[in-house]
Amino acid sequence: MTSSLFKDFANQYIPILEEEARKQVDMLEAPSVLKDAMLYSLNAGGKRIRPLLVLAVLNAFGRNPEAGILPAAAVEMIHTYSLIHDDLPSMDNDDLRRGKPTNHKVFGEAAAILAGDALLTYAFQVITKMKPEDASPSVVVALIRELAAAAGPEGMVGGQTADIEAEGKTLELGELVYIHENKTGRLLTASVLMGAVLAEASIEAKNKLQNFSYHLGLAFQIRDDILDIEGLEEKIGKPVGSDVHNNKNTYPSLLTLEGAKEKLHHHISLAKQDLLETGLDAEILMEITDMVAQRDY
Ligand code: IPE
Ligand code: IPE
Ligand code: MG
Ligand code: MG
Ligand code: MG
Repeated sequence: MTSSLFKDFANQYIPILEEEARKQVDMLEAPSVLKDAMLYSLNAGGKRIRPLLVLAVLNAFGRNPEAGILPAAAVEMIHTYSLIHDDLPSMDNDDLRRGKPTNHKVFGEAAAILAGDALLTYAFQVITKMKPEDASPSVVVALIRELAAAAGPEGMVGGQTADIEAEGKTLELGELVYIHENKTGRLLTASVLMGAVLAEASIEAKNKLQNFSYHLGLAFQIRDDILDIEGLEEKIGKPVGSDVHNNKNTYPSLLTLEGAKEKLHHHISLAKQDLLETGLDAEILMEITDMVAQRDY
């Protein structure tokens, strides 16, 4: 890809976001091993798609993305916690993440679990640090509600539980949709909706953005499933073949690789249609959608 609005946007805001996240952890009065373990995974890189979605939605409403840096950092903390726990021996048992040894390989299992716990809880505290001019108290509560609902038992953790429970069984497609929608889709949806909450969007605009992000979230995990087969370890920064090894239900395992790619393009085209219907100035969100379809890491 040559120059793109999304690339410029990412180059502008990722450093600000990463600096803020680092600063927030640095200032903690907590055991240094805990802070080191939190920062190890948080600083390891990653695409930062969830925080960029928060900021890109603000941008689409003509708002200053800077106002969303703290909640964007909070979403990335929740996501990073989920990856640390996802890699544990009792979960997917993976040794490589973001191109580095997984958190428990470096710090041990107990510290990795606690680093995840710390990122999860601290994320909500970070949202409460927003300046009153960026978010009124009722907006802060709405952000926390959105993120908590998406990350919790009726969202990501529910989806992860179903994912683990289904290992070694063969699911119906509808059951797999539940897993993907929740373990991955909900946090992407929350990122988009948090941007909309910050921009004080109308209910109609939020509903349209929710439809968009539903398809974006499913597409994101379908692409992840495909990369677990076709990806290159050096690029994806995590082991290839983890799903087959763990007898996971994935789009390729249920539908073949070709079938999974068809579903990917189906959800991408629905996401784009829904995005157009918002009527927003959404070029960056459109480019993010293309990136989700084509990404090789
Ligand atoms: C990986 O997420 C886990 C899934 C939910 C598919 P990402 O692909 O966003 O991982 P990073 O943040 O770029 O490392
Ligand atoms: C992860 O799904 C979903 C999470 C909530 C972490 P995967 O287990 O497929 O994610 P990767 O492939 O390890 O990143
Ligand atoms: Mg997993
Ligand atoms: Mg995994
Ligand atoms: Mg995966």
